[in-house]
Amino acid sequence: MSQRSNARRGAASGATSTAPAASAEPGAVLRFEEVRENPRVGFYVRKADEALAEIGYTEHGERHVGLVARIAFNVLKRLGYPERTAELAAIAGYLHDIGNAVNRDHHAQIGAVMAMQLLSDMGMSDEEILQVIGAIGNHHENDGDPVSPVAAAVILADKSDVHRTRVRNPDMIKFDIHDRVNYAVEKSFLNVDEAGKRITLELTVDTAISQVMEYFEIFMTRMLASRKAAKFLDVSFGLTVNGNRLT
Ligand SMILES: [Fe+2]
Ligand SMILES: [Fe+2]
Repeated sequence: MSQRSNARRGAASGATSTAPAASAEPGAVLRFEEVRENPRVGFYVRKADEALAEIGYTEHGERHVGLVARIAFNVLKRLGYPERTAELAAIAGYLHDIGNAVNRDHHAQIGAVMAMQLLSDMGMSDEEILQVIGAIGNHHENDGDPVSPVAAAVILADKSDVHRTRVRNPDMIKFDIHDRVNYAVEKSFLNVDEAGKRITLELTVDTAISQVMEYFEIFMTRMLASRKAAKFLDVSFGLTVNGNRLT
């Protein structure tokens, strides 16, 4: 671990690169697992989730960011992007919500600056950092755009995570519309059809808890963001609820 850290520092400062053979591209040295297992990363992921718990938001912790990382990686991998580009999307996915530790407003941009510091300390090159923080800073539907494949993958992954396990409030009677919509979703799956050039968010929704219209009310802007992100990747975006195609 320390050897590899030293190698990264050497590469970052222009010394001869001793990147591990597993790296797909020159300079591609900081692995996703190293980011995920870094204690400082763990600390900020945890604190961001705790801050959101304080203000009544759904779960945004390890489960959410781990899932976003995995889905973002898979989206690019399935669409034929280089392994390292997919890994950068995984890293961006894992770090995308740490800005919530500072403030919910502008958490995407705040998180980008925080990630820059963390990744720089871990020895990532500026070129790769830029890809990661560009994705983090653009992941939120209100003030972000798919500026790169990495950013588009993180948007698609983030917007697809709607599930009952995200609801913290144990009291159904006190559910707000976000809780209700999340709780109603028993299964969500982002299906990437590389041959058909189509990405579909497949939801299984308990309509006794939340009507499909409520889902639209909450998630219309998210769906539009997903469609835009898919378009950037040159694929179409669709949504199915209980097997019925809605878009
Ligand atoms: Fe976010
Ligand atoms: Fe998120």
